[in-house]
Amino acid sequence: MSISTLAREIAESPTLKLNEEAQDLRDRGEAVIHLGAGEPKSKVPFEALLNCAAQLSTAEVRYTPTEGISPLRKAIIRYTEENYGKVIGKDNVLVSGGAKQALSVLLTTLINPMDEVIILAPYWVSYPEMVKMVYGKPVIVTPGDGRFEPRLKDIIDMTSSYTKAVIINSPNNPSGVVYSEQFIAEVVEYCEKKGIYLIMDDIYHKLVFSGKTWTSCYKYAKDQTDNSRLIVINGVSKLYAMTGYRIGWTIANSQIIETMINVQAQTTSCPAVLSQIAAVGALTGIQSGVESLRLMLENNRKVMVQELNAFEGVKLIPPDGTFYALPDFRAYSNDSVALSKTLLKKAMVVAVPGKEFGMEGHLRLSFCGTIMDIMEGVARIKWVLDPNSPNEIYIGDRKLVRDWQ
Ligand SMILES: Cc1ncc(COP(=O)(O)O)c(C=O)c1O
Repeated sequence: MSISTLAREIAESPTLKLNEEAQDLRDRGEAVIHLGAGEPKSKVPFEALLNCAAQLSTAEVRYTPTEGISPLRKAIIRYTEENYGKVIGKDNVLVSGGAKQALSVLLTTLINPMDEVIILAPYWVSYPEMVKMVYGKPVIVTPGDGRFEPRLKDIIDMTSSYTKAVIINSPNNPSGVVYSEQFIAEVVEYCEKKGIYLIMDDIYHKLVFSGKTWTSCYKYAKDQTDNSRLIVINGVSKLYAMTGYRIGWTIANSQIIETMINVQAQTTSCPAVLSQIAAVGALTGIQSGVESLRLMLENNRKVMVQELNAFEGVKLIPPDGTFYALPDFRAYSNDSVALSKTLLKKAMVVAVPGKEFGMEGHLRLSFCGTIMDIMEGVARIKWVLDPNSPNEIYIGDRKLVRDWQ
């Protein structure tokens, strides 16, 4: 069969594949613990459900303007002012089918073949593939000495005359690291000076713990005009537990947004109207759900950190945001893909290989499930890997004995 070279080079999404495998195992009655999940289990905001139901009951479910319905764009403008301290207009907002689509439309809009896009490791799995999909070249910057926090120098060293954009994701998926205010200030200043687009993926921006604070990139932007090359991506998936609604957005200068509208119009038209209306409910309704989620995650994080710190040989840089930890398992294996497969096969635990995020030897463990999942999940991993742990374990109602070293 003839399939395009480009498409053949695009890697499968490892997280979505693991979700499918976990679901298959569950359907077969296996007691799977999913530490690979990328979605909070909290309830969708009531106002989102009400809005959605009210629209559905009108039996009017139609196309909307490509850029999104006016009430949603207004809600995003208000959100940006309240959370970022940045005043924007309607021409600066495009609503898309999730932050993922927002990023994809943005990259199609900005990137010429062989333009370079700097991505900081550990990175969200989709960035390099998305850059490749527009014939751009992902340039991975890996911080030295095992840290997850990059230095401006690392970026400067990898900048070339082909560098078109830098993508920053803080709080960071998969490490949970929240980049320092100083780093954000430096990178904003550097990109402005060099005329490089700076893309901030802020999808986890309120899920921050342990006294850390997230920094709005606009705070350090000298160029506050409509020529600015600073671009923000955000959405309702993570903070409002609305992953299935598929609503995200881009904030950028009006020229970029105008072109993005054309790109989106010719590919998917508008995001689904029911989802847009639900997002209006989430953004304009009572906001306490976001803080409740943050508190729940902070508690889960404490348990995850405790359990991993008590795991012989495992090294952890404790996460300060998101709902992921990225412990270093190199004491047990340098091959995170093989390790992830072993854990699923022997212990029915889903853990995403660090290799997919540019951090071989690590596993991404999610703590957005229950405390029980975290404790039992880590205990099962220990049972598989640590010969000093008890060699019997219950997985569901099956008692298993470790018979390997
Ligand atoms: C860093 C990052 N950006 C973007 C997304 C995509 O979010 P959405 O569900 O809005 O497409 C994710 C989802 O996992 C993510 O982790």
